[in-house]
Amino acid sequence: MKHIAVLTSGGDAPGMNAAIRAVVRTGLDRGWAVHGVRYGYAGLINDNLVAMGARSVGGIIHQGGTMLGSARCPEFMTEDGRNSALRTLQQHEIEALIVIGGNGSQTGAYDLHRMGFPVVGVASTIDNDVYGAEPSIGVDTALNIALEAIDRIKTTASSHQRAFIVEVMGRDRGYLALMAGIAGGAEFVVIPEVDTSPEEVAIRVRADYRKGKAHAIVVVAEGAYCNAQRLQGYFKEQHERLGFEPRVTILGHVQRGGAPTAFDRLLGTRSGAAATEYLARGEQGIMLGQVGGKIAATPLAEVAATKKPLDLGLLELARSLNK
Ligand code: F6P
Repeated sequence: MKHIAVLTSGGDAPGMNAAIRAVVRTGLDRGWAVHGVRYGYAGLINDNLVAMGARSVGGIIHQGGTMLGSARCPEFMTEDGRNSALRTLQQHEIEALIVIGGNGSQTGAYDLHRMGFPVVGVASTIDNDVYGAEPSIGVDTALNIALEAIDRIKTTASSHQRAFIVEVMGRDRGYLALMAGIAGGAEFVVIPEVDTSPEEVAIRVRADYRKGKAHAIVVVAEGAYCNAQRLQGYFKEQHERLGFEPRVTILGHVQRGGAPTAFDRLLGTRSGAAATEYLARGEQGIMLGQVGGKIAATPLAEVAATKKPLDLGLLELARSLNK
C-alpha cells in the first residue's frame, strides 16, 4: 500500500478544499493511506500530521480557505528546516507528498524533489502567477469578488460624481487588477509590471471628469508603486490644485475568503484527482495546472525557474476602452 501526504501552503485560495478532498478520496480509492499535514511546511517541520479518511473531507467543498491550515514558513527556506521536514516524512514512512500552493510553495516542492523525495505540486494561488497554470485554483473566485466590489462602488461613485481608487491583491502581479479592471469597466488600471506615476493617474481622472463622466474608477494592484496608500497621500497633498480627492477602498483579504466558485471547485477537484493519478503512474517532480483547458504536468524545475508572463496587450485594451 502506498502512503502519501498532502499539504496546503502559502496564501490560502478558494478551491484548495476541493483539491484536498479529491486527493484524499482518489488516494483512498487506490487503496493508499493518506495523511494531511497541518499548516503547510511548518507542519512538516513540527510533525503536525493527521490521518485522513473519506469523512474527514466531508462538507468542505463549498468552503473557502483550507481545512488543513496554511502558513508562510521561512524556516523551510533553511537547510535545517528542510532536513527536519524530510525527517518527519521518513519517520511516518510517507512515500510521496502533494503540495497545493503558489510560487513559493512550488519552489519548496522542488527543493524536496531535489533532496530525492517524490513530490507532486498542484497550482493554487489567487495571484495567477504560477508558470504552468492558467488559471491557478482560487483566481476565478478572487476575481469575481473584486468585480462585485467594483460594481458596487461604481453605483455610489456615480451618485456623488466621485473618483475611487480600488486596490486589489497582487504583491508582484497585476493579473487580478487588470482583469477586474477590464471586466468592471474601470477608467484606469495600475499594475506593478508597468511604471505609472501618481500625476499620470491624476491627469487621467481629471480628463474623465472633463468628458462629463459621472465617476472615475481606478483599479490598482497592491504591489504597484502607485498603490492605494501612495495615491491617497498624493491626492491629499494635491487636493487644492486638482480640485478633487478620490475615495479609497482596499479590498485586501476579502478577496481570498468565502465560498469558491463552481470553476474553482471543479479546477481543485480535477487537479487533486490528477495528482494521485500521476503518482500512481510513477510520475513525480512535476506540478499540475490547467493548460489549454486540460490538467497538464509541468516539471517543478521549470515552474521554479520561470516567471509567468502577463499579457500587457490587455493593459492597452483596458486603457483604450476608456472613452
Ligand atoms: O496569496 C497571494 C496573496 O494573497 C497576495 O496577493 C498578497 O500580496 C499576499 O498573498 C498577502 O499575504 P498574507 O496573507 O500573508 O498577508
